[in-house]
Amino acid sequence: MQAVATTSVMPTGAALGAEIRGVDLARDLDGETFRRIEDAFNRHGVIFFRGQDITVGQQIAFARRFGEVEINVNTQACLPGHPEVLLVSNIRENGRYIGLADAGTTWHTDMSAYACPPRCSILYAKEVPSAADGTILGDTIFASAAAAHDALAPETRKRLAGRRSTHSYLAKMMARKEAVGLTREVTPEHLAKTPPVAHPVFRTHPVTGRQCIYVTEGECTGIEGMADAEALPLIAELHRHLIDPRFQYRHRWRVGDVLMWDNCSCQHLAVRDYGEGQRRLMHRVTVNGSVPV
Ligand code: SIN
Repeated sequence: MQAVATTSVMPTGAALGAEIRGVDLARDLDGETFRRIEDAFNRHGVIFFRGQDITVGQQIAFARRFGEVEINVNTQACLPGHPEVLLVSNIRENGRYIGLADAGTTWHTDMSAYACPPRCSILYAKEVPSAADGTILGDTIFASAAAAHDALAPETRKRLAGRRSTHSYLAKMMARKEAVGLTREVTPEHLAKTPPVAHPVFRTHPVTGRQCIYVTEGECTGIEGMADAEALPLIAELHRHLIDPRFQYRHRWRVGDVLMWDNCSCQHLAVRDYGEGQRRLMHRVTVNGSVPV
């Protein structure tokens, strides 16, 4: 059955993010409804649908409307029988985490240490932690890399225009280990698949053409053609500017939320303010993207 096009797009009022209402993702989306959703996604960087009740197959089918679905290299953290679905969770079974427990716990954009990072990631909230008084925990904070770029001083833009910075998966994992601890093993096979790669410091959005800051402190180990003594403080300064609260939207999860983010126009942070006994379970499906330019 097809969804009827009664979709409404409600911007969050922050620098990014919008809620999409009137869509049931358990149904096939007609062309016009999908067009409106994709347009809202490109425009707002983060979109979310509340109160969804979808199967694994329906989440994958929705993701496929946006492109080819990625199979995560962390195969031990994927839903058994569904390598398209990465489990982001602190739940342990038989003495081990069923998914990635440290996913997103430092600021980043997904898999930017890949030559061809993903277009978007789609999270479906299955279990959301809360405190004893009912306060919801485990929010995700998003920052608009496009709004942050627009707010840069003209001389900074000029200084870095055309420059490329090196992204290192190993550096990202080491920085995360130092900041919050790691619960995954960084395997030699994974490292072999992710040699350091250079991407533009300012990336052009493949659909909107907006310029987006594409560096992360910790993960970016330098800027090509620039001495580290100059490059590393610049990377840190740019990244701190990007995650300034004025460019942020903070999502408070509810079970049944389906939320997706654009890995070019924003970065995100999963707030780890809950303990082992407070279960959090997200099903993540990731859609392949294009080489940053
Ligand atoms: C992620 O970065 O994939 C996880 C984000 C979250 O769990 O909130």
